[in-house]
This record gives sequence, structure tokens and C-alpha cells, in this order.
Amino acid sequence: MASHSMADTFAKRATQLREYIFSQPTSTFENNPWAVANAIDEFAESQGRMMIFKKAKLDVAQAQLVAQQPAPRTILEFGTFVGKSAVAWGAVLRDIHGENVPEDVNVYTFEVDPLMVSLSRDLIKLAGLQDVVHVLEGPASESLKKLHAEGKVASVDMAFFDHWEEFYLPDLQLIEDLKLFRVGSLAIADNTDFPGAPDYLKYVKAGGRGVAGSVKYESQSFTTESQPSKPSIVEVSNVVAI
Ligand SMILES: C[S@@+](CC[C@H](N)C(=O)[O-])C[C@H]1O[C@@H](n2cnc3c(N)ncnc32)[C@H](O)[C@@H]1O
Repeated sequence: MASHSMADTFAKRATQLREYIFSQPTSTFENNPWAVANAIDEFAESQGRMMIFKKAKLDVAQAQLVAQQPAPRTILEFGTFVGKSAVAWGAVLRDIHGENVPEDVNVYTFEVDPLMVSLSRDLIKLAGLQDVVHVLEGPASESLKKLHAEGKVASVDMAFFDHWEEFYLPDLQLIEDLKLFRVGSLAIADNTDFPGAPDYLKYVKAGGRGVAGSVKYESQSFTTESQPSKPSIVEVSNVVAI
């Protein structure tokens, strides 16, 4: 959970990022999701203190999505923040399915902080992804239950965990309980090394609940950089049986 001073820093960064992007000509970003994602990366590099999913890690996840069969149609993201990874997932889906992304191809991204909800929605719209990437405000578990009850999400190709680490495991198990995974689905998690999500990591490395009829995972830790005490691992867990 972010402390008050960190929350203040993130709020300040969000306001500065809005100014940085929207002070540039709209034509730089309009209908160009990768330009928006790259500009957020550049801003984060220059300012620091931005908890975004960095490019090297995104490359790992993107390779998994591009190789996934059948091709991914539904992505859940836990933790939107300013919308960097949400825009990137939309860009990846657009690269896979073409510019006119079919109606049943969607990213649902969950965020509790209204300031981040507002900024991420504006950046998603600027990128031309408003019909593909949907930001749901409130606790992720509640939003997911609602989406499921409304029949909007019946199957999940990739779930990305990047919110507060204590929620990774319960939210993964919620997806299991709602029976949203298929064989070949992916659970991808950031920050399992730092600050760490030990219960989640133990669970996916053990292959899941380990009882008959439960989701079974094969899990691999990808290392992307080697700076000490910097989060560098992306945990990729494949659903291999149900
Ligand atoms: C690490 S940031 C997400 C970064 C984002 N994925 C990116 O790469 O641009 C984590 C975000 O998760 C949000 N969050 C934390 N717990 C949450 C929960 N239970 N439900 C929804 N959002 C949550 C926080 O407010 C914060 O903005």
C-alpha cells in the first residue's frame, strides 16, 4: 500500500504527465497507442518515481501474447495507475487483430484512485483505444465480479497483476472461482521480487491449489535487468490444465 507521501508524489507526477502529454501537438499521439505508451516511458525516465511496467518487462509479456493460441481477446489488468500498461495492452491487441479491433477484443483495467482513472481514460482516448480499453473505478475484485455478473467477461486470456501485492493471490483465485481461465490462459505478475508477493509466488510455483479439477499452472520467472534492489522479475504463469 502506498504511504501518504508516496501517494502525494504519484498525484503530482500524474498532473505533470498530463501537462507533458497534452502540451504536445495532438497529432503526435492521436490514434497512435505506441506513441502514447513511449511518451509515458520517456516522462517516467526523466522524472523518476513512477510505478509503471517498464519496457523490458513489457517486451516479455508482449512476446507471450503474440505467441498465444488462440490469439488473446480478453485481458484483465489489476492496477491501472496512469494507464501506461493499459495503453500498451491495447496496442498489442491492435497489432495482433488489426486497426479495426473486433468488438469482442477488450482490455478491462481496474483502478481505485479517481485521479488515475481520469488521467488514464484521457490517455486511452487520445491513443484512440476508447472502444478497446475500459477503465473500471473501484476495488478490482468488485469490478471483476460485476463484469462477470453482467456477462461482459466469460473467459480471460491474460490477467496482469500490478496492483497492491497483497491482492495478487486473492484476485487470482477469484478468477479461478469465476471459472474464467482456459488452458493456455496467462497470469502475468510484476513486482513478485520487489516489494514481493511471496504467497502468490509460492502458489503459482507450486502449480496452484493442487486439488482435482483446479487450475494448474506452470510458472517461470523472467529476469529483465540486474540492478540490485530494483524489481526486475516478470512472473509468467501458464494455465496448463483445468
Ligand atoms: C503499480 S501501479 C500500476 C501500474 C500500471 N500497471 C502501469 O504499468 O502503468 C498500481 C496501481 O494499482 C492501484 N490499486 C491498488 N490496489 C488496487 C485494488 N485492489 N483495486 C484496484 N486498483 C488498485 C493503485 O491505486 C495504483 O494506481
